Amino acid sequence: MAATLSSLLSHFLILLHLLPLTIAAPGGGKWDLVHSNIGVSAMHMQLLNTDRVVIFDLTDFGPSNISLPNNQCRNNPRDLTLKIDCTTHSVEYGVASNSIRPLNVFTNVWCSSGAAMADGSLVQTGGFNDGDQNARVYKPCTDNSCDWQEFNRVLTQKRWYATNHILPDGRQIIIGGRGQFTYEFYPKRVGADRSYNLPFLSQTNDPRIENNLYPFVFLNVDGNLFIFANNRAILFDYINGVVVRNYPTIPGGDPRSYPSSGSAVLLPLRNLQGGKNIVAEVLVCGGAPRGSFTRATTGNFVGALNTCGRIRITDPNPQWAMETMPLARVMGDMVLLPNGNVLIINGASTGTAGWDLGRNPVQTPVIYRPNNPGQSRFEIQGSSSRPRMYHSTAILLRDGRVLISGSNPNAYYNFTGVLFPTDLTMEIFSPEYLDRRSAHLRPSIISPASHSQIGYGKQLSVTFTIKGRINRSLLMVTMVAPPFTTHSFSMNQRLLVLANGNEIGSNMVSLGRSNYRVRVVTPGSSILAPPGYYLLFVVYQEVPSQGIWVQIK
Ligand SMILES: *[C@@H]1O[C@H](CO)[C@@H](O)[C@H](O)[C@H]1NC(C)=O
Ligand SMILES: *[C@@H]1O[C@H](CO)[C@@H](O)[C@H](O)[C@H]1NC(C)=O
Ligand SMILES: *[C@@H]1O[C@H](CO)[C@@H](O)[C@H](O)[C@H]1NC(C)=O
Repeated sequence: MAATLSSLLSHFLILLHLLPLTIAAPGGGKWDLVHSNIGVSAMHMQLLNTDRVVIFDLTDFGPSNISLPNNQCRNNPRDLTLKIDCTTHSVEYGVASNSIRPLNVFTNVWCSSGAAMADGSLVQTGGFNDGDQNARVYKPCTDNSCDWQEFNRVLTQKRWYATNHILPDGRQIIIGGRGQFTYEFYPKRVGADRSYNLPFLSQTNDPRIENNLYPFVFLNVDGNLFIFANNRAILFDYINGVVVRNYPTIPGGDPRSYPSSGSAVLLPLRNLQGGKNIVAEVLVCGGAPRGSFTRATTGNFVGALNTCGRIRITDPNPQWAMETMPLARVMGDMVLLPNGNVLIINGASTGTAGWDLGRNPVQTPVIYRPNNPGQSRFEIQGSSSRPRMYHSTAILLRDGRVLISGSNPNAYYNFTGVLFPTDLTMEIFSPEYLDRRSAHLRPSIISPASHSQIGYGKQLSVTFTIKGRINRSLLMVTMVAPPFTTHSFSMNQRLLVLANGNEIGSNMVSLGRSNYRVRVVTPGSSILAPPGYYLLFVVYQEVPSQGIWVQIK
């Protein structure tokens, strides 16, 4: 009897223990549909320092769902589909007004790349057909007067599916693209106006299915570029054209870049006063097993990868550490949240990137907490009701919300008669930190004023309020670079932790009721933080303030 009771009891305890794992909790966060039709499918998105988002699709597969302003039409004899087109393929989204403004883009920006520059302009390069060697500049404005400016044939090579990164000197590097095993810089400089070979791109190019497009590129803390394509990475000295290091192949050997589209982030950079000892880590998540693309074209949709690989790219002998996600995912987006956690969102659980090659949308985002112990890093969030398949995007906004739009896995805008109709809606995912229950923890920045300029390696005083008593070891100050996002990769995405918990100590003082001042040191160099606009956040117990824009130069 005693034995039975105790075995019953132990069963009961096991059940209790399993309960939180087996019952899929509704999960954190909240979804809101903020626009039912923005007119274009958001293949590319960039947040500007005006809190407006530039959005564009490709230009030559027929009409979009929004007219050009003032009854204009674009007459482009080189357009492959619709030479006289009265619709626009780019819009500006105003976050505060929740409004859409049509823009003019003339040549084809299909599967292009870009980054925000030191002055806050978006410089976008490449594309397809008549746009493949062009650069386009969008200077932010608040009076609705700004629009695209195009510069024809300024790239030395065609750049379709390339990756850009802003450099410490303020130029962009443009790496690869379909059939291009080279890199080049923009703007051009005397003596650096050509393309340079990058054999790594031909070595990782699977000739039938390229599998190395839109490489994952990060500026390492030593000034070299970490470049991941297909299933491996190099550390590249782009100034001297030298491969400094070959990283091991990611365990399993499956490809993670387009069309096997996983995603990747440079994890938050911490302890920035560490000089040569600053650690940089990259996290690559999801993708599709080798062969998935070919199989998908014959109607066989293979299960996506459910693993992430994490590697300290600054280690002398770096090794991948593998982790298992709660959900397999291809075409996911990885968004750095202001508190240093990573949101993994959008995509599908079978198939690959490419038109009509994905199945089984994953509508449930996951948060990854890089600092948690090994087995407790992933947390399932609440689900959206809409699939976000090929050509969907996600970006962080200044208020800590995440903007999600796009999804057009079909050639042309098809709203009916297809498995995954073109989606022109815009949604917002509000992570749990925006929940009302966290209101008493939310800091609010008083100074500096938004758009302040900050220098390198300088003291910066940040004053803020928090309602309750605070424990300074749970406070953080972070800086986030707003990325250019397309095809599951956010180019130029970067988060720097300026001060964190124990480092804060006596650098924080109370200024009386609910008011505090924390003194932080700005990043020491343009290698740590390339020049440009960043969002600065004060974070308390993982709850971020609204960001303010700061310009570092
Ligand atoms: C957008 O699509 C809807 C539904 O197909 C259509 O009624 C409307 O006329 C379209 N608008 C434009 C500007 O193309
Ligand atoms: C989508 O629409 C276009 C015309 O707008 C049509 O030619 C094409 O066949 C459609 N695609 C699919 C997959 O139905
Ligand atoms: C402040 O937070 C730290 C880290 O969680 C904790 O160890 C410490 O006990 C807290 N201090 C107080 C006074 O609550």
